[in-house]
Amino acid sequence: MQQTLVLHVNPEQPEAAPIARAAAVLRAGGLVAFPTETVYGLGANALDDNAVRAIFRAKDRPAYDPLIVHLADAASLPSVVRVVPDAVRLLAVHFWPGPLTLVLPRNAAVPPSVTAAGDTVAVRIPSHPVALALIRAAGVPVAAPSANRFGRISPTCVEHVLADLQGRVDIILDGGPTPVGVESTVLSLVSSIPAILRPGGVSREALAAVLGEVDVHQLAITPEPESMQISPGTSSSHYAPRARLILYRGQKPALLQAMRAEADRLQSEGERVGVLAADEDAGYFAALRERQTSPVCFQPVGSEQCLTDVARRLYGALHALDQAGVTVILARDFGNAGLGLAVRDRLTRAAGGRVIQV
Ligand code: TXA
Ligand code: MG
Repeated sequence: MQQTLVLHVNPEQPEAAPIARAAAVLRAGGLVAFPTETVYGLGANALDDNAVRAIFRAKDRPAYDPLIVHLADAASLPSVVRVVPDAVRLLAVHFWPGPLTLVLPRNAAVPPSVTAAGDTVAVRIPSHPVALALIRAAGVPVAAPSANRFGRISPTCVEHVLADLQGRVDIILDGGPTPVGVESTVLSLVSSIPAILRPGGVSREALAAVLGEVDVHQLAITPEPESMQISPGTSSSHYAPRARLILYRGQKPALLQAMRAEADRLQSEGERVGVLAADEDAGYFAALRERQTSPVCFQPVGSEQCLTDVARRLYGALHALDQAGVTVILARDFGNAGLGLAVRDRLTRAAGGRVIQV
């Protein structure tokens, strides 16, 4: 591909002209990156096998990792889904449009490139006005993974998309930063008990309140062969910054003391250390930040009392630490309640198994 065109668009009330232009590109088999409420997606017409294959090439994504199909409304489900179980109606009332992806039996119109040749298809109805306007204007279901190179951090603003995909996508719709900040929750409805394959923007507690019973697929802390997995994109080593990341789990203050001791030790070995923690943790690292030689780079992600902020700022903080050129990142855990589970999941994968329980 040649040139990438960036079109600004009002995130609340998207203007008709940029949406129409991007929709025409989708209908013609091209690639459009666009904001959703979770992260930016890299979209193509889900019913066009060639266009879908172009997504995999642009991302360097292996063909075994299936894509999410984005629809404008639940009435469009039969265009990609064979049977719509009763639970879908219930979930749709509570969570759609929004950051919930459902894995359902696919219908024959969906090319095997979308589903990695599997019998199921993942679908969601995003709530971002730009995403909805684009899907409506295109008039086709839109397959879209996160708009990053495979294995890298998902993009929450247009700068992140450009850094990974400039020259590999026809149009990027710039609708500003994405409000949720972590990807959608992937919920399988093809298992006997609904199962969370990837925690995300809709919490386990919220799903359990509606469905009763919900399983959570164990976080893959140790790497396993990807082809063996139920949801291939949930492998560890996903969502990884360039720097080596170590995740610290446990109670404060021991958690922060252990991180500070390790930061101090790594610094004295000549490493450039980044710390990802809460606003209120800043004081612990004050002395290390003021050092003359390679001071610790502290990236706060908001108050630990406000997990919506932590989720929204997580990927931006990882991008910023990469930009700062740190060689190692010490990140703290934020528990498993609400959005904390999605944050833990992404940091665990970014750590690729380097998890320290304090
Ligand atoms: O928030 C999101 O979900 C974003 C925005 C753009 O919508 N999209 C996103 O897509 O995160 P992607 O491709 O980066 O992640 C999709 C996840 C992967 O873990 C993939 O393995 C899983 O969904 N998935 C897709 N189709 C599946 C299927 N049929 N069965 C099980 N897992 C599936
Ligand atoms: Mg992704």
